[in-house]
Amino acid sequence: MVTLKRFGISIEEDLLDKFDKLIASKGYENRSEAFRDIARDLLVKQKWSDPNAEAVGTITIIYDHHKREISDKLTEFQHHHHVNILSAMHIHLDEKFCLEVIALRGKVKDIQHIADHIIGTKGVKHGKLTATTIEEFK
Ligand code: NI
Repeated sequence: MVTLKRFGISIEEDLLDKFDKLIASKGYENRSEAFRDIARDLLVKQKWSDPNAEAVGTITIIYDHHKREISDKLTEFQHHHHVNILSAMHIHLDEKFCLEVIALRGKVKDIQHIADHIIGTKGVKHGKLTATTIEEFK
C-alpha cells in the first residue's frame, strides 16, 4: 500500500504559470503527476551517476547497411555482449537505411560502454541511449 503525502511549494507566479502551460501542453492532468515524473527522472539520473548501479536502457541507431562490414561489426559486437543485451529489433527503413533498437540490462558502466561503442561505430549516422531503471520505483 502506497502512502501519499501532501505538501506545499512556494514558487514565483511567473514560473508557475510557465510550468502549468508546459505540463498542460504535454498532457498532464495535474501538477502532482508532472512533479512525480520530474522527481523520478532526477532519481534515474542519480542512479546513472553510479557506474556499478543496476540499470536498463535502449540504444536507437540509424545506419546505412551498404557501408562496408557495418552489419557484421554490429552483430559481432552484440554477440560479444550477449549477457547485457536482452533483445534487438531491426527494421529495414528503405533501400539504404536500417533502424535498430537494442534493449540492455546490467551495470551502468557496461551499458554505457556498449552504447558508446555501437553509436561510435563507423557508418552509424545517428544514435542515442535512453537510460532508465526500475530500481528506484520498487
Ligand atoms: Ni536493414
